[in-house]
Amino acid sequence: MLVLGIETSCDETAVGIVDGQGNQIANIVASQAEIHSKYGGIIPEIASRQHILDIGNTTSLAFNNANLDLGDIDVVAVTYGPGLAGSLIVGLNYAKGLASSLDIPLVGVNHLEGHIYAAWIKNKSYSPMPFQEQVNKENKIMCLLVSGGHTELILMEDIGEFNIIGETRDDAAGEAFDKVARVIGLNYPGGPEIQRMSELATEKIDTFPRSWIAGTDDFSFSGIKTAVINRSKELGFYPPNKKIFPKEDIQSSISRAFQDSVVDVLVTKTIRAADKFNCKGIVLVGGVAANKVLRDQLLSNSHLPVSIPPINLCTDNGVMIAMAGLNNFKRGKVSDMSLDILPSLRI
Ligand code: KG4
Ligand code: ZN
Repeated sequence: MLVLGIETSCDETAVGIVDGQGNQIANIVASQAEIHSKYGGIIPEIASRQHILDIGNTTSLAFNNANLDLGDIDVVAVTYGPGLAGSLIVGLNYAKGLASSLDIPLVGVNHLEGHIYAAWIKNKSYSPMPFQEQVNKENKIMCLLVSGGHTELILMEDIGEFNIIGETRDDAAGEAFDKVARVIGLNYPGGPEIQRMSELATEKIDTFPRSWIAGTDDFSFSGIKTAVINRSKELGFYPPNKKIFPKEDIQSSISRAFQDSVVDVLVTKTIRAADKFNCKGIVLVGGVAANKVLRDQLLSNSHLPVSIPPINLCTDNGVMIAMAGLNNFKRGKVSDMSLDILPSLRI
């Protein structure tokens, strides 16, 4: 059994393949980050056009690398939301074309569920922890999903059963990384840039407040973004002007203080929520889960076992969509040619 996964919800054209046991068979990602970086964020029309240009070659490359033919595939899984409408349409139409010409099932995948299922993929450098093998009411899992558009604490009581118990009230964590990076003159995407700059920080000049929103499992990141903007105004380089550009030591100090604050809140509240719901383990997924400090802090502070997929399965990829498609298919969740995009789909 082989499942093809197609992902075009944002600015990555990605194709992956898993087998019936969840082993990664292929993983090809055509990133548009460089194209969008000169605009400081994603331009939706450019993103959808680029998907059109990349989808065919990305798929061929996935099959060539895995030494497979289209005819070897049993199921086509595709992201149908949430995401950018014009981007989602490219992947969904391509998947419909493949499924109908190969006469095999089409399975629609929620991108957010895809991120979570990344933690169940098996490959050379990663395999799920024992606590993930059987998820049920006695063996619950707390997932922290942190991406460019989402920051959610999701309680899993079964495979395919997701309950949001906390979420951001304003910006997503990744969005905060991207916006703060832009304010302090770093490139898009901001997460990896802020991580890189914060590693250069030598002394602690800045500190930013932590937003705990006591008594809830929710998050808020707009306050810290405002704190960075206010600090940047004080230093004279925001709003951007030609005379003053932030020096590298300022960029690194702000990056470090911002990252510390965001990571502290995410880690503390995730562990607290996992305890509150008597979970057996914690799963960290989504693009921001690529952050080294977040990974290290969660691993070292949690008394529960923590499972984090490798970095290339945390950021958008097609393998996670294939994995989610496999799980949906096994549970009888199959779509048909009437499947439409849902840009605001929730979990
Ligand atoms: O999951 P993803 O690839 O796309 C969405 O579905 O949003 O997440 C992208 C987000 C971006 O905001 C990016 O800045 C952030 O993940 N990101 C990181 C890191 N790598 C990517 N944030 C913090 N540290 C990183 N190393
Ligand atoms: Zn994503």
